[in-house]
Amino acid sequence: MTVRVGILGATGYTALELLKILVRHPEVEVTALTTRQEDRPHVSSIHPQFHKQLDLHLENWGPKELADRCDCVFGCLPHAASASVIPEMLDAGMKVVDLSADYRLNDPEVYAKWYGADHPDAERMKTTVYGLPELFREGIAEAQLVANPGCYPTGVSLALAPLLKAGIIKPEGIIADCKSGVSGAGRTPKMATLYPECNESFAAYGVGTHRHMPEIEQNLTVYSGKSASVIFTPHLVPMDRGILSTCYALPDTEASEKELLNCLNEKYADEPFVRVRTDLPATKHVSGTNFCDITVRRVKDRVLTISCIDNLVKGASGAAVQNFNLMYGFAETTALL
Ligand SMILES: NC(=O)c1ccc[n+]([C@@H]2O[C@H](COP(=O)([O-])OP(=O)(O)OC[C@H]3O[C@@H](n4cnc5c(N)ncnc54)[C@H](OP(=O)(O)O)[C@@H]3O)[C@@H](O)[C@H]2O)c1
Repeated sequence: MTVRVGILGATGYTALELLKILVRHPEVEVTALTTRQEDRPHVSSIHPQFHKQLDLHLENWGPKELADRCDCVFGCLPHAASASVIPEMLDAGMKVVDLSADYRLNDPEVYAKWYGADHPDAERMKTTVYGLPELFREGIAEAQLVANPGCYPTGVSLALAPLLKAGIIKPEGIIADCKSGVSGAGRTPKMATLYPECNESFAAYGVGTHRHMPEIEQNLTVYSGKSASVIFTPHLVPMDRGILSTCYALPDTEASEKELLNCLNEKYADEPFVRVRTDLPATKHVSGTNFCDITVRRVKDRVLTISCIDNLVKGASGAAVQNFNLMYGFAETTALL
């Protein structure tokens, strides 16, 4: 079966990464790419990587035109822009994997508090499947809409959730200290990501206010059944891609380091994309891959986890294809290993 696939917001970084994966997916034909630009740019003028690889123009398509050409769309739009078009895509019968934050939270009040506006599609957001298969695989295969997780929440949640559920760490007092490469902010120009601003510099941002904080808390709480409280501090690192998350938690047992590792190994033994390691992971070890590498340590009176992902792959487009594979009954690893 060939699935006809479209990408919304195809000029951006997550779209570029999706295209790299989808052109080698044996069950996919990319049939539509969208942009707000009216001059129908060829994909190779936007992403020169696709010269002689893909002969397609980007168009300012609406839901009707897309429904004629696609069975499934990946939404690579900013939040709010995404929720303004996704309901029409779903009504037109297409499946959707949304990479934006619009359908990740399940509580409209939490959304309104952190995103500063009421959700335009509040009923749907309450029940949308959250596409982090290693923790919430149930429901993805049957879903018409999947909310693809945020990049930081992926690395942090995969490291902490099993330890919390097993009663090894306490749900309160968790600190997630995370560092991201600059592509995490997207291709759309912003002051903070201009070369002279971020090169040779290292800065925290969104302290106490970053919107991934409630998403991390939601994941840990839903998965463990315990009300998790997390202080999440992101940092911008002058590298292209990658996220390293160092998390600090209070132990709830006297578990040894071996037992901590066993807990993660048991959880992820059959997961193709999570690698539990005894040595220390680095962003280079997972760059360009859909892996999340994790280790755990006991240091004084804390449990530490260190996890690494590529923000554009396991943190975005690789995870989106993993969800797509589940939605269409393909092997979960298709085009990703
Ligand atoms: N970058 C990451 O590491 C990452 C990780 C996980 C999730 N995400 C999420 O994935 C989505 C895409 O991220 P990205 O990094 O690919 O962003 P990006 O590089 O900035 O691309 C977003 C694209 O959306 C289009 N767009 C921008 N504003 C729009 C609007 N108001 N209405 C309609 N289209 C608009 C633009 O295309 P045109 O100007 O051509 O129309 C733009 O190229 C975002 O929601 C982001 O939060 C990103």
